Amino acid sequence: MAEEIRKVGVVGLGAMGAGIAQLCVEAGVETVGREVSAELGENARDRIGHFLTRKVEKAQMDQAARDAAVGRLSLTTDLAGLADCDLVIEAIVEELGPKQELFAELERICRPDAVLATNTSALSVTEIASRVASPGRVVGMHFFNPAPLMPLVEIVRAELSSDDAFETAYAFGALLGKHPIRCNDTPGFVVNRILIPLLNDCVRTLDEARVTVEDLDAGMKHGAGWPMGPCELLDLVGIDVHVHASEALWDKLREPRMAPPARLVAMANAGLYGRKSGRGFYTYG
Ligand code: CAA
Repeated sequence: MAEEIRKVGVVGLGAMGAGIAQLCVEAGVETVGREVSAELGENARDRIGHFLTRKVEKAQMDQAARDAAVGRLSLTTDLAGLADCDLVIEAIVEELGPKQELFAELERICRPDAVLATNTSALSVTEIASRVASPGRVVGMHFFNPAPLMPLVEIVRAELSSDDAFETAYAFGALLGKHPIRCNDTPGFVVNRILIPLLNDCVRTLDEARVTVEDLDAGMKHGAGWPMGPCELLDLVGIDVHVHASEALWDKLREPRMAPPARLVAMANAGLYGRKSGRGFYTYG
């Protein structure tokens, strides 16, 4: 594997991918972000620039460091632009087929010693790697939303991940300033295996206990020490994203608590995704 990670590729610059790219450039690493259109790439660059400007305004970073960080991000719409990366982190749509195709393509494009990581939250890393001829180089690097703020990264060992690739990803997680933990490719890894059914329980409690969204959130913040209430958190993660992840876990584990509650499925079907759509449990201005 590459001795040192000097250049990283991030495929997919949505909320998670942009957050991961932000972490990389802040850590001083040259980063190539790939989006399907130049406009989506520019949107992500603007978002990263905005959050780094806020850091300057709050005296957490100086202007020169901010500009240097933004300057370390280059954009491409062509996967071939990732050919000289030491590590590529995938953060595209949470669908197995597109991820499998992407990894097969990355294997053709990238150097043989480059590590290929997926940020999947609920799919199997082993299945994502199944169309790659050298699956030893594939691992999971699962960041939490919002990636620049949440300290954890789960480093996931798939069935065929090599020790080298796994330890390279672990060391890179630490270099980004994260708290990496080592885990295996089991459904939901560690945190989502616990958090997804727990959030589903919270939503079911809304109906069973006939409490308001505000009171449920206040209950978990002030009675259980959560930094934000479960409904606020679901709005942040995205109701659609949660339902999708919940269905993936239900598919694998067949435990009733894993299945998304009907209320969340209805919200997702109605486009009430939370913050990103302007309305979920709460309305956003
Ligand atoms: N990217 C980059 N920077 C961001 C950001 C983002 N998405 N969101 C906020 N920031 C920056 C902003 O600049 C902000 O400062 P300003 O508002 O002054 O501009 C700064 O970070 C601080 O933001 P907040 O004041 O909102 O920070 P906070 O102290 O209130 O903490 C929080 C926010 C870290 C999100 C905290 O509420 C928290 O820990 N919530 C729980 C989140 C959580 O559980 N996430 C896991 C979700 S599950 C998951 O991700 C798994 C999965 O697979 C789906």
